[in-house]
Amino acid sequence: MRRSIYIETYGCQMNFADTEIVNGILNEQGYELAADLESADAIFVNTCAIRDNAEQRIYGRLSNFEHLKKRNPHLVVGILGCMAERLRENLLEQKSVVDIVCGPDEYRKLPALIDEAFQGEKGIRTQLSRVETYDDIVPLRTEGISAWVSVMRGCDKFCTFCVVPFTRGRERSRTLEGVVSEVRDLAARGFREVTLLGQNVNSYSDGEHDFASLLTAVAAIDPRLRVRFTTSHPQDMSDRLIEAIAAHENICSYIHLPFQSGSDRVLELMNRTYTREHYLDLVRRIKERIPGVALSTDIIAGFPTETEEDHRETLALLEEVRFDGAYMFKYSPREKTRAWKMGDDVPDEVKGRRLEEIIDLQRRISYEINQAMIGGNERILLEGPSKRSDAEWLGRTDANKSVIIPKAEFAVGDYVDVRIVSATSATLFGTIVSQVVTEAA
Ligand code: SAH
Ligand code: SF4
Ligand code: F3S
Repeated sequence: MRRSIYIETYGCQMNFADTEIVNGILNEQGYELAADLESADAIFVNTCAIRDNAEQRIYGRLSNFEHLKKRNPHLVVGILGCMAERLRENLLEQKSVVDIVCGPDEYRKLPALIDEAFQGEKGIRTQLSRVETYDDIVPLRTEGISAWVSVMRGCDKFCTFCVVPFTRGRERSRTLEGVVSEVRDLAARGFREVTLLGQNVNSYSDGEHDFASLLTAVAAIDPRLRVRFTTSHPQDMSDRLIEAIAAHENICSYIHLPFQSGSDRVLELMNRTYTREHYLDLVRRIKERIPGVALSTDIIAGFPTETEEDHRETLALLEEVRFDGAYMFKYSPREKTRAWKMGDDVPDEVKGRRLEEIIDLQRRISYEINQAMIGGNERILLEGPSKRSDAEWLGRTDANKSVIIPKAEFAVGDYVDVRIVSATSATLFGTIVSQVVTEAA
């Protein structure tokens, strides 16, 4: 009898891409994907360790798995991903429900770990690698039109708040050929959008090619394919890369460019390696070269020693750049990082209030930007029915904005030209202007 597995995924897109890699590895070894948690012989959580609340969520899930295991004592439970790497044997020692702990660079060992677990032996593998990129593994993707493609792993930036260099190890890139052949395959299977992933894609290098070359090569595969990428670090955003985005219609004019804090003093403490002025200058160059570009960012409120003045500089930077969207977080101290030793001196209620001010301001800006789009035309890629109603489609613009339109004779994966008729801070609503078109832009 073939055994079945089920993986629940948390955290960033790289974790979602890793889950597809793990499914690829296990499928190759004869495991089936279970339809749901309850029917699986082995369940895994692919975990995130970026902030404490991400880990608390996982502990919550583990208590649920305890119930499942009571009903089925043969059930195997495994922890994958960043929390596995961060907590290692502590997870096995403190959580008796856990049978397997496997870090992000050890997924090739999973079939052996699972075999042992079915024989009643607990197992742990958490070695980080300088070379593992899973370049040869074919990720098992459920059918769809949009795919995540990891092009690099790890991070060497060591921002002082961040646990990723410890959970994902050193930076390393896949080969350009490996990525291109994977994307060619996806395009042939009908995928219409790929997002190239890395913690810091701008420093991609396979020894011969930089990220601008990779992006250009991927864009050349098929004009019907939208090409996205994330995340960009401001330090490595080269003019060559900006030119590559500007020069290709099917490379989306959308850049996620985290700035974290508007204060030079805090940026220095964070080891972000750029100043406010450098960041603003970069944004100016991007906006000049890529008209209509959409920008989003990440912000941390309440980093150690952050003052009201520092916080106001963050708000002022938001006003100045006018991002289309932002991911905003309360600072969460992480063991092993340099910021851990700086203490956590901003009281929680102050962090909360600052975060709320940031969110309120950003919501207003997103609303204004979206309102200004009313009356304009956009080409959207249809993703499926909207969450609200089956009578509506959800599509996405080049700038990654969600658009709701009335349902018509279209199929998922079609490009449709629409006119924007109304907007909230998060969603645009449109009417159909023309029938299906085939090109991404
Ligand atoms: N590689 C990306 C970010 C990956 S983590 C980059 O450098 O931009 C995603 C976001 O989580 C970060 O941009 C940061 O805003 C936030 N983050 C990371 N560590 C954090 C911490 N300890 N507390 C709060 N937010 C954090
Ligand atoms: Fe973390 Fe900084 Fe690396 Fe991003 S660039 S993953 S924030 S260390
Ligand atoms: Fe979380 Fe690991 Fe991604 S810590 S954000 S899952 S790299």
